[in-house]
Amino acid sequence: MTQHTSSTLAIPEVSAIPRHVAIIMDGNGRWASKRHMPRVAGHSEGLNAVRKIVAECRRLGVEYLTLFAFSSENWRRPPEEVGFLMKLFLKSLKGEVTRLAENDICLKLIGDLERFDRDIQKMVTFSEEKTAQCKALTFTIAANYGGRWDILQAMRQCLIAHPHLKPEQVSEDLIQPFLSMSYAPEPDLFIRTGGEQRVSNFLLWQLAYTELYFTDVLWPDFDEAELHKSFEWFSQRERRFGRTSAQVMSQSMSDAV
Ligand code: IPE
Ligand code: IPE
Ligand code: MG
Repeated sequence: MTQHTSSTLAIPEVSAIPRHVAIIMDGNGRWASKRHMPRVAGHSEGLNAVRKIVAECRRLGVEYLTLFAFSSENWRRPPEEVGFLMKLFLKSLKGEVTRLAENDICLKLIGDLERFDRDIQKMVTFSEEKTAQCKALTFTIAANYGGRWDILQAMRQCLIAHPHLKPEQVSEDLIQPFLSMSYAPEPDLFIRTGGEQRVSNFLLWQLAYTELYFTDVLWPDFDEAELHKSFEWFSQRERRFGRTSAQVMSQSMSDAV
């Protein structure tokens, strides 16, 4: 499996279409409340937006799409809402996996799956295996995921793999292969719908140099046109990775020669 160096060390190539897009799909509950519907109706509607965005990312040539579906903090919600989300998760995995495979989309799950019921865990394994050879898009769902959990589990695995490690030998490159998204480059573009401007314990390590895009649009209303807007905004960013603007310009001029 390919390992990707941290973007704090290596500078990725710049392009108009982000290679890796990571999204916090927020605002389902408010979308439903505005329509005097129960919050969970917003989650069902949010699934339609997921289908649209997956298809559009594939069409546009995005290589990696990562969606935050359920955070390690979301267990604090009322049990009925958590139960509904679990049922929806299982139902949508069952309903979508064949279509994903037909469209050459590789599905991956990140997060602590042990807390999920056995039938969900089995369906995750089945879905990952069924789409493992797909190449057009890698679609990752973060479920019971937390950025701090990810860093801690990576540190623990790293210490198990290198039991005699000395503090001065600990490096980014040593930890990175154990992070749950080690198969992907770090996100180029982060999108959060629903108006909040926070990261909510999503990919903390991996977002170090990601461009952050916030929109008030509620997730069920986020469609192809909204995705295009975010890509347009992304294409205007100057990604400096610590360098000066002049350095970035001269680099892109020498790349063009
Ligand atoms: C995001 O929408 C979906 C999940 C967290 C599962 P919310 O349910 O957080 O919607 P709001 O923020 O309450 O509107
Ligand atoms: C973040 O949304 C998690 C997901 C979208 C799955 P929340 O709506 O739970 O975030 P906070 O707690 O309001 O920051
Ligand atoms: Mg929310």
